Amino acid sequence: MTDLSALLIAWYDRHHRDLPWRVSPAAHAAGQRPDPYRVWLSEVMLQQTTVAAVTGYFHRFTARWPDVTALAEAEDAEVMAEWAGLGYYARARNLLRCARAISAEHGGVFPQTEAELRALPGIGPYTAAAVAAIAFDQPAVVVDGNVERVISRLFRIETPLPRAKPEIGRRAAGMTPSMRPGDHAQAMMDLGATICTPRNPACAICPLREACAAQAVGDATSFPRKAPR
Ligand code: ADE
Repeated sequence: MTDLSALLIAWYDRHHRDLPWRVSPAAHAAGQRPDPYRVWLSEVMLQQTTVAAVTGYFHRFTARWPDVTALAEAEDAEVMAEWAGLGYYARARNLLRCARAISAEHGGVFPQTEAELRALPGIGPYTAAAVAAIAFDQPAVVVDGNVERVISRLFRIETPLPRAKPEIGRRAAGMTPSMRPGDHAQAMMDLGATICTPRNPACAICPLREACAAQAVGDATSFPRKAPR
């Protein structure tokens, strides 16, 4: 299964998106490490929100509160005002709870394992896995909506969502490499956002084309299957 990840990572090395919270694969290989604060903040902002909508907010937040301790010391109202327009305001309240816990209980230093991250208030399974993988290169299995779509197509999963989630999780775990798991996670998300899109996927230029079971029958867009309502 790791050969799928090798194809994907080779593609990511050439076509990854330059996003403000990322360290490029080349800089990463040269020893530069992503800032867990920026990774965490971006992942919280990106839930239910597009990269285009998040970018300006991300720059304003990090300019005003450059690290987790600074954010922990902010007033609730200041943070809510800066969040205004991003929506899903529970995310901002959870963001502050989490920042304050990291500041008070971890001396302002992010814990590195998925389990410790998961134990923080306001961090769910997705965010814990994403931060562990992207910031700390832990082989955590990161599954968001993009990844669900990629995997449903790749393995032609006939079970509809949301019932397919356990199977998708097993397939995602099977693909997760021990080398560069953080880049693998980001590559899956970039593939879903730029190639394996919900409508009109660019199968002709997909790095996983040869391995994709849905593409083999010319039927990528009918996956993931959805339960009839
Ligand atoms: N969507 C959510 N997190 C992302 C990430 N780290 N890279 C690209 N798209 C994302």
